[in-house]
Parts: sequence; structure tokens; C-alpha cells
Amino acid sequence: MSSQEEGAAEQDPNTEEPSSSSSCENDVTTGDIITVTIGATVPTGFEHTAAEEVKEKIGVDTRISKDRGRIYFPITTDKLFQVHLLRSVDNLFVVVEEYDHYQFKGSKEETLMELQQLASKLPWTNALEVWKLNCTLKKKKGYRKGGNGTKVKPNTVATNVLVPDSEHQELPQEMSATESQTKIESRPDVESCTQEAAPQDKVIKFRVTCNRAGDKHSFSSNEAARDFGGAVQEFFQWKADMTKFDIEVLLNIHNEEMVIGIALTEESLHRRNISHFGPTTLRSTLCYGMLRLCKPQPSDVILDPMCGTGAIPLEGAIEFNSSFYIAGDNYDMAVNRTVNNICHIQKRRVEKGSPSGLPIDTVRWDLCNLPMRTSSVDIIITDMPFGKRMGSRKKNWDLYPSCLREMARVCRPGTGKAVLLTQDKKCFSKAISRMGGLWRKLHTVWVNVGGLHAGVYLLKRTGAVFGQTPEDIYESRGPVNTQGDGKDVKELF
Ligand SMILES: C[S@@+](CC[C@H](N)C(=O)[O-])C[C@H]1O[C@@H](n2cnc3c(N)ncnc32)[C@H](O)[C@@H]1O
Repeated sequence: MSSQEEGAAEQDPNTEEPSSSSSCENDVTTGDIITVTIGATVPTGFEHTAAEEVKEKIGVDTRISKDRGRIYFPITTDKLFQVHLLRSVDNLFVVVEEYDHYQFKGSKEETLMELQQLASKLPWTNALEVWKLNCTLKKKKGYRKGGNGTKVKPNTVATNVLVPDSEHQELPQEMSATESQTKIESRPDVESCTQEAAPQDKVIKFRVTCNRAGDKHSFSSNEAARDFGGAVQEFFQWKADMTKFDIEVLLNIHNEEMVIGIALTEESLHRRNISHFGPTTLRSTLCYGMLRLCKPQPSDVILDPMCGTGAIPLEGAIEFNSSFYIAGDNYDMAVNRTVNNICHIQKRRVEKGSPSGLPIDTVRWDLCNLPMRTSSVDIIITDMPFGKRMGSRKKNWDLYPSCLREMARVCRPGTGKAVLLTQDKKCFSKAISRMGGLWRKLHTVWVNVGGLHAGVYLLKRTGAVFGQTPEDIYESRGPVNTQGDGKDVKELF
């Protein structure tokens, strides 16, 4: 049965309750601890890595959404703090309700009406409890805070509902007194959280963000967010505010999968390490995924020879801190940014009273001529210039073979590994094929980097001795200038 057919077998939300799984499947309540489903956005392509981390650190199994870049896992609320410490997740939310096969109506009017009706039927209570708990955690010192607001994937639309205050301040006139009473009583209690998040007696401010993907919907994201948001406002008597909101309700729609959630992060967690950004700073969550791919071991020497702002080695030095990291770049400003980022983290650690030292060193070098001994490095992990914002496609044809060769020289034959990120797949594949068997491709993870489809290549350094093949000798060359000043240095062979 196709997923479409399976969907057709679901109940019609207008007539009967549609099949769904709520955030608290059995309404499990043990004292103050409740079980809820947490949703997390993760770098696309690294969903399984994130699932591994969740299993390892929280001990639960993760479900990977059909919507790439999202995972779901159950937690008891005593684990909420640990969820915020995960290194592979960008944004977190608690699930109010999820529908695998929501049967959206054919017409826009019917669908929007159904979304409006849904707002008052959803099991909000547990999710709001978690949101409240999250407010309390946020107030505690040491809670990780990232950069700016909710990130929206390029093919989705974020909609902030702003309904004029006067329009929804009162309960609708057609509602009978008894109905009004029932509705008010059935509202989950959010009073105490209001006190946590905002001054007493202050009306809760909220917004609805709709992330929608799929071309078979009769409605736009704006319309869904507006109508659903209006109904949420009416039900809770909250106030819509696009910018200064206490609660962000998420309406995530991916084809016929619909998940309603409440955001637990105002800011993506991926910006946690970097204070001095560069033009191509990599998200820390993606760096974590790359690091996990190469499984750093205690005492491994790990090199990022094109470190930019140092995002990869910094994440490594923090999370896999039994290895030693060397961060290098041929651009002064990049080296300075890395040094500043390291200093910033160290300062933060001193302020928190945690050990300040990080196992990382920074060097200015040209990757094509590394000042390092042959076979002295265990792992090379780097984000290569794509040739778009950094360097150029033309220069990559010289740079890629040169750097793969120099990396093969310093990397330990037989055991060494490299994890390399690039969007210039053609150039990379060609360069690898010219390496005379020094590298073997083990695995590729396809990722989305700022909307670009890129590959993270896991390579193994074969046992081949460097400098023995005609390619090694022929291709040895001097530095390749990639700073865009047009002065490429090319040796004559
Ligand atoms: C894509 S950026 C790396 C960004 C980095 N991952 C970050 O998060 O900031 C590539 C870097 O390679 C550096 N680079 C280019 N050619 C180089 C070379 N021959 N030797 C060393 N670094 C080089 C550039 O200066 C740039 O900082």
C-alpha cells in the first residue's frame, strides 16, 4: 500500500478524530515527571548521527522523519536539560500532536476551517508543561544560548500570525454561555508559566510559524498559520506578537505529515561556539556530525588544515577532548578569527569555573606545503573551498589534487582517515581518482550547506607508501594561492 493509500485509510478529521500520536501517548504522568515527544531539527544528512547521539546520551530510540532534517524521540521531563546539551541538534520543540497521514481537504476553505477547529481539540497540556519547565531551565545559569531566531529551510515559509487585537479579544458571539464556559475550563493552565516567562498578569504573547513542504496543498503557509493562529489565540486568549513572543507554536507540514509543536529554543543551538564569524563559518552541529564520522580516539592528532574560523577543531576540542587538534589556514584573518574564537571559549570557561584549557593549537600555513612530518597525523577533517564564496572553481582544479596529496603525505598509511566537505563534487572525484590509490572512499554523506547540495566524504588512507607512485612525484608542487588575488603560484614540472 502506498503512503497515499495508507493516508486515505485514516479518519477524516472533520467527522471523527484523525489518527494521530500525541506528545504523551498514554498520558503517562508519574508525579511531576511526564513523558513527551521531543522534535529536533538537525543538519540534513546527519539524522542518523543525531539518532546515535540521542541513544548514547539519553538512552532512547529516535524516529527519523520523512521530512529530512528532523528527528523525534521520547523523553521524561527530568531529561529535558540533557536534551539541550545535545551537540547534533539545531532547534528543539515539544510535540503537541503529530499526524503521519493527515488528509487535507481538497478545497482551501475546508482545510483552513479544519485547521481552525483543530486548535481547540489538541492535547496541549503536557507540551505546555514542558514549555513551562523549559522557561525555568532557561533562567538557570549555564544554559546554552545560541545566536539568532528560528531558522527556516529555503523551501519553507515562516509565517507569523498577527491578528488585530480587537478581533480576537472576546469569545465569538455565536458561542453559548455554556460553550464558552466549557472552553475556558478546558484550557490548559499556563498561569504559572506566565509568571515565569513574563510579569504576573501579563497576557501571554505567541506566534505561529508554519513550515510547509510539498506541492499538493491547496493552502499557503501564510494562510495555514494565520487561520490556525487565530484559533489558537481565541482558544487561549493569548496575544499574537510576531517578534516579542513568549510561545512559538510550530505548524510543520510536510506533504501529508503534520506536526504541531511548541518551540523550546529561541535560537538555533548551532552557533554555540563561534563569536568571530567568517564568510563561510560552518554550523557547529554539522561539524559535530563530521567529527563523529571519523570517530576520534584518545591521543589522536587531528588536523583541520583549512580551518577558517576554526568551527570544526573547536567543536572537536570541546566534545572529543582526548584528541589533539591543529587548526591552520593560509589567510591571516582566518587564523586571527580562530584564535579569537578559542580565547572566547576559554574566557567563558574561566567565568564558569570549568577547566579553561582546550587541546588545540593554531598555525598559519599553506596546506599544500604543511610543516609537518610524513605519517604524523591520524585524522584530517576539513571544509574545502567550494569555489563559490571562497576561492574559485577554476582554482579548485589545482588546489584539490595538491591538498589531497599533501594530506596523504602527513596522514598515517593504513589507519589514517580524512573527512572532507565540498560542494565541488566533480573536481573532488577527479582529484581522488588521480591519487594513485593513496585514498579510498569509504562513505559519503549528502548534506545541505546553506542551500547547497554538498558531500561529506569519509576517506581512508590506504597502506600505500607516499612518494612511490608516479602521480606523487609528478604532482608535487608549491603553494596554490586561493585568496583570489590572481597570483597563483605554480611550479614548472
Ligand atoms: C570553506 S573555508 C573553511 C571555513 C571553516 N570551516 C569555518 O567554519 O570557518 C576554506 C578555508 O580554506 C582556506 N584555504 C584555502 N586555500 C588554502 C591553502 N592553500 N592553505 C590553507 N588554507 C587554505 C581559506 O582561507 C578558507 O578559510
